[in-house]
Amino acid sequence: MPRRVHQVGFFAAVILIVLSILGTRYQEIDVPLLRSLQGHNRIDPLTLHLSGEFVEGNLGVKQDADGSLTLRMLAEQYFFIPHCVVVPAGIPVHLRITSADAVHVLAVTGTDYKVTAVPGAVSDASMEFTRPGEYDMPCHEFCGAGHYAMRSRLVVVPRDQFPLTEAEEGGRCAAR
Ligand code: CUA
Repeated sequence: MPRRVHQVGFFAAVILIVLSILGTRYQEIDVPLLRSLQGHNRIDPLTLHLSGEFVEGNLGVKQDADGSLTLRMLAEQYFFIPHCVVVPAGIPVHLRITSADAVHVLAVTGTDYKVTAVPGAVSDASMEFTRPGEYDMPCHEFCGAGHYAMRSRLVVVPRDQFPLTEAEEGGRCAAR
């Protein structure tokens, strides 16, 4: 009997340790995945093109009523849409991104910005660029045969030059 009591005590200790690790490390669990499990920001990857926030015409940068900027992007094998976006320097840009298929990671080269795009959930990030410049935005998660060519481009322009032309209204780069 004492041996059995020991075993029960051992398993109880293991469970306590696991629970305490989960309790302190839960923030490190991938946030978009967690959100999708919790049901927040849920979105149906199969109807993205047809209706809702991520239809083609709504992608790119939009100015909200309070003057803040929202950049909506769609990731799908093997593109980020839009393939090039224009944002102003010195203004926070709220990025919302989702995926139509696999898990992709939009990375802004030369910065710490890296956002995971997960099918079925919308990922949020706030980005701000202090100076004008151009950034490559490759996919940083292996997502299939076309992964290495999957990228978008970010052009940061001076605040007073945004948007540059009518073609760039909506935050997409004009054809160059
Ligand atoms: Cu998308 Cu790799």
